Formats: sequence, C-alpha cells, structure tokens
Amino acid sequence: MKVRAYGLPRVRPKKWLGDRDMSKPLGRILSEGKTKIVREAESSDMVILEFKDSITALDGEKMDVLRGKAVINSHISAYFLELLEKNRVPTHFKEFVEPNMMIVKNLKMLPVEVVCRNIAAGHLVKNFPIKEGTPLNPPVVEFYLKDDARHDPMLNEDHFVILDLASREEVKKIKELTLKTNRVLSEALKARNLILVDFKIEVGRGQDGKIYVGDEINGDSMRIWEVGTSKILDKDVYRKGGSMEKVLNTYIQLYEKLLGKKPPI
Ligand SMILES: Nc1ncnc2c1ncn2[C@@H]1O[C@H](COP(=O)(O)OP(=O)(O)OP(=O)(O)O)[C@@H](O)[C@H]1O
Ligand SMILES: [Mg+2]
Repeated sequence: MKVRAYGLPRVRPKKWLGDRDMSKPLGRILSEGKTKIVREAESSDMVILEFKDSITALDGEKMDVLRGKAVINSHISAYFLELLEKNRVPTHFKEFVEPNMMIVKNLKMLPVEVVCRNIAAGHLVKNFPIKEGTPLNPPVVEFYLKDDARHDPMLNEDHFVILDLASREEVKKIKELTLKTNRVLSEALKARNLILVDFKIEVGRGQDGKIYVGDEINGDSMRIWEVGTSKILDKDVYRKGGSMEKVLNTYIQLYEKLLGKKPPI
C-alpha cells in the first residue's frame, strides 16, 4: 500500500491519531457525513475521505464515538479497495494517508446503496419469508435509494430510468461490478476462515463517465461471520446493543484477521 504524508493538520488534535506530519494544513471541507469528512485534495479530480470515530445505526438514531474506529476502518477500506483494483474492479482508491484518510477519485456519487447478499440476514429476513442463515444461490443484488426521509426505498432497473439515476446499461454494469466485488471479497475472507454474509457498496461516475466503486468497504458496510462459530465480526455487534468495549474489540479482531497485525491505535 502506498503511504504518504499529505495535507495534514498543523495541530495534533488527539494523541491517539499517532504520528502525523503536521507540515501542511488539511484541505477545505466539502461535506461531512456521519462517519466521514470529504475534503478538497491537491487536484480537483481527487478528494480526501477522512474517517471519523463515530459509529451509527438505525438511520443515525443510535450514535456513539468509538475511539480508534477511524484508523481501523480507513485501513480496512484501503486494503479492500486495493484488493479490488488488483483484481481489475475499478474503484476510486488512489492512496492511503496515515492515520485515517484516503485520497480517492472525485466521483459524482449515485444516491444509491447497492447491497449484495450471500446468506440471508438483516432486511432480507425482516421483509421476506426466509430464515436467517439460509444460503442464497445465486447471490441477491438489491438497490436502495439513499433518501432518509423516505427510509431508503428499494429500486429496480425501471426506477433508475424514471428517476434519471442511471441508464439500463449502467445498471447492468453496476450489477456486474457488484458481483465481481462479491467474488473478490468472499475469496479473501474465505482464506481467513471468514464468511462474507452480505455487504453494501456505493458507486459513482468518474470524469471519464465510467462507473467506479466508491465510498468505503469495512466492518460498517459488511456482515462477516467466522466459519464454524458464526461469531459476528462487524457492526451488527453494535446494532444488537453490544458494549462499546465489545464493539471496539470486534473491529480490532477484524483488522487483525485481515491485515495480520495489530491496528496502530
Ligand atoms: N470518491 C468519492 N467522491 C465524492 N464523494 C464520495 C466519494 N466516495 C464517497 N463519497 C461520499 O462521501 C460521503 C461520505 O460521508 P459519510 O459516509 O459519512 O456519509 P453518510 O453520513 O453515510 O451520509 P450519506 O452517505 O447519506 O451522504 C458520502 O456522501 C459518499 O457518497
Ligand atoms: Mg456513508
């Protein structure tokens, strides 16, 4: 993984953030979400995604600060995005910036969440007559409109067209990208005795008009179970009301299993 110091703050805000090069100020904030800040990068075709320590569930109704999460999740995201790139899945990833930032292609994000499921869990079990843990063959790909006020309604291909979100060809491309992402991530996890139950990605258009995998891929956006024990290694520990100590421990364990070392927190 390429690592370089870039656009870092002059004042170390918190000790846990580790050793930053404070020679440069951070780029201007373009937008701030629940778990990340989007900042200007050196060139306008790039942006910086700065991960935050916040953890949220239930459309933001449940919210806490989990010290160390930003560092863990940014590293895991960079790890997965790089893995996808190596497997010829186009992503926005450019460079990792210690301790908690990624320089990425500046995409025009589609206001859509793309979900891919290998095993029944979460919303699928809540909304359909299917038992948790049922293997899904073929994997199920679902699209949701990112619209909090409407509780993120599910989209089909016709909705993409009438809402002017994407063309039918693009929807087909997004589905292909998602299934390829599923194969790459599932294989990487399987090699570590882990099962990819489901995951969510966000996609956007680059300046070349092509669709890229954007945003983040980590324990916040996936369900991961341990083979044999079905131990949960993702944000479900938080959703289900686990203590903050247990939640942090889960994120640390996922980092260690994926990257084979202790997280720098
Ligand atoms: N490559 C990219 N270029 C531009 N914006 C991006 C890129 N990747 C991700 N984003 C956007 O950055 C924001 C990340 O912030 P965060 O994930 O904290 O938002 P959020 O609270 O989940 O809210 P929402 O995702 O609904 O906007 C998201 O709006 C996401 O779509
Ligand atoms: Mg988000």
